[in-house]
Amino acid sequence: MKSNTDVDTKSAAKTGKGPTLIVAVEQNFPQEERIINDTLAPKLFSGTDLFWIQLTKISVFRNWIVGLTEKILPGGWSCFLVRKCYIDERLLEAAENREVEAVVNLGAGFDTRLYRLEALSNIPCWEVDQPINIAAKERALKRAFKTVPENVTLTGMNFVEQEIGESLKQSGYQAGVRTFFIWEAVSQYLNEASVKKTFDFFAKAPAGSQLVFTYVPRDFIDGTNLYNQEMFYKRVVLKDKIWQFGFDPTTLGELLGRIGWKLVKDLGYNELCDRYVKPTGRNLDILQIERVVYAEKVGDA
Ligand SMILES: C[S@@+](CC[C@H](N)C(=O)[O-])C[C@H]1O[C@@H](n2cnc3c(N)ncnc32)[C@H](O)[C@@H]1O
Repeated sequence: MKSNTDVDTKSAAKTGKGPTLIVAVEQNFPQEERIINDTLAPKLFSGTDLFWIQLTKISVFRNWIVGLTEKILPGGWSCFLVRKCYIDERLLEAAENREVEAVVNLGAGFDTRLYRLEALSNIPCWEVDQPINIAAKERALKRAFKTVPENVTLTGMNFVEQEIGESLKQSGYQAGVRTFFIWEAVSQYLNEASVKKTFDFFAKAPAGSQLVFTYVPRDFIDGTNLYNQEMFYKRVVLKDKIWQFGFDPTTLGELLGRIGWKLVKDLGYNELCDRYVKPTGRNLDILQIERVVYAEKVGDA
């Protein structure tokens, strides 16, 4: 097992804005072609980021940015959008049916769903990320809303060095409440020890809690299957070493079962793109090196 000091959390922090930047640019597509609607996303940005977002109101720049993303990582544009659509849907369903009493978004980055989904406005929510990203998010939220919305608590911590349960407790989260956990595009940036710590935390959630997370297949991280993404593999795994961890899809159900969770869905992007991209008529590549899991807490670990 790798030690706690081998993870480049500073580089991981720099990825916090990326997905929401893509969502913000997506708002410049005509409504009928847009994969996700999120009027808040552009409002969280300023300076150069905002300049680029504004520039993509012109279709030639917009198409250039999408093309560039697709060249670096085929499927890289749609994946950010469709996973957000899917997580929003699961979360809305849980909130509207009063299935959960709290929401915790682990590694939230600049994600906007806790602020834009009306059904969450009376549910206590926590966004957890590295302190540098939490500070940036607070500034961005104050730009957009003047103040951080009352039902959301921002919690700065490092999953590698600290305990999620402890940090959340200090931020007022009560461990015994049925919670919807989001862990979107985070697990690949952690080492085995911190993934295990996160699972230990999930193990303590009460029955009825729900979890959506994304993961990179282990065979991509260990290099036994590059899914035709050799350049990307060389960059993020070998050179930058920013992607560290992958799950084996064949043992994931058992792994979750051991901590009292039932794997309900383990979705690939083919399925998600069919659901959310196809109706727009857009022709986008489909990412093969990430999957999305939905799980429910059924008992004690
Ligand atoms: C690719 S971003 C995803 C952001 C957001 N979940 C989304 O999908 O829009 C990964 C996020 O995980 C956070 N993260 C990675 N490693 C972390 C760690 N050791 N402790 C806390 N947060 C971490 C990063 O700071 C970053 O905000």
